[in-house]
Amino acid sequence: MDPHSDPAIETEGLVKVYGGETRALDGISFQVTPGELFGLLGPNGAGKTTAIRILATLLRPTAGTARVVGFDVATRPQEVRRRLGLAMQTPTLDAFSTGRETLELAGRLHGVPATEVRRRTDELLELMGLASVAKKLTGTYSGGMKRRLDLASALVHQPELLILDEPTEGLDPQSRTALWEELERISASGTTMLLTTHYMEEADRLCTRLAIIDNGRIVVEGRAADLKRAIAADTVVLQIEPHSYGGNDDGRVADVRRLLEGMV
Ligand SMILES: Nc1ncnc2c1ncn2[C@@H]1O[C@H](COP(=O)(O)OP(=O)(O)OP(=O)(O)O)[C@@H](O)[C@H]1O
Ligand SMILES: [Mg+2]
Repeated sequence: MDPHSDPAIETEGLVKVYGGETRALDGISFQVTPGELFGLLGPNGAGKTTAIRILATLLRPTAGTARVVGFDVATRPQEVRRRLGLAMQTPTLDAFSTGRETLELAGRLHGVPATEVRRRTDELLELMGLASVAKKLTGTYSGGMKRRLDLASALVHQPELLILDEPTEGLDPQSRTALWEELERISASGTTMLLTTHYMEEADRLCTRLAIIDNGRIVVEGRAADLKRAIAADTVVLQIEPHSYGGNDDGRVADVRRLLEGMV
């Protein structure tokens, strides 16, 4: 069977119980089609990282199965790892290596030929806006720079599938937007992507499809537009700035309400 005709990710009833008591995943099933940018959206402790660690062959499920790029994670982990790019929630970089050394090592570990490693490293440093700091130790990088270098490491061997655990956590709004644009470019070039986030606007902007996960279960799954339609209408939060309007607060609220009545 040609593995490339399979779903990029297919999980069936994934369960993970830590230490016999914490049920982090409580039967998770979903599919990701090749080329999709799929999101797992959920609050802290929902089970996102646990799901990702199972898909990336770093953790064994208590029950259930997962196939990634056509291979069972339990029986063919090597095949999965070869085709997978992974950036975890906390970037793990060697503080005493430069950005360039980090990417070259990642390339060599993935068995990319030496000349190709150099070419890919140059390309990725440029793409991620890190060319000017390529010779600096990663220990001197800002959080955002570390994130981008970690993402570049995950891309060096041109993986079929990219898995990113909360890729924009801790970034300032400007870096976040820049990274979104980068992820959109990678996705448009044909790489299948699974990312986790707890930012609704991130899932909405980036993901072709998403699953909302809470307490180890998928609550709802679908295209962002369909989910929004099904769950609720848009909400607009209006804040009235103090001192900018004059009069007392009650009066101001009443005035704003009158103005809005004419609009809605
Ligand atoms: N190694 C572990 N040992 C025991 N319990 C764990 C372990 N890792 C995670 N858990 C528990 O499993 C549950 C899910 O954790 P997980 O890290 O998968 O959530 P998450 O959705 O990634 O959260 P966050 O948004 O905070 O990263 C939590 O209750 C957590 O405390
Ligand atoms: Mg997590």
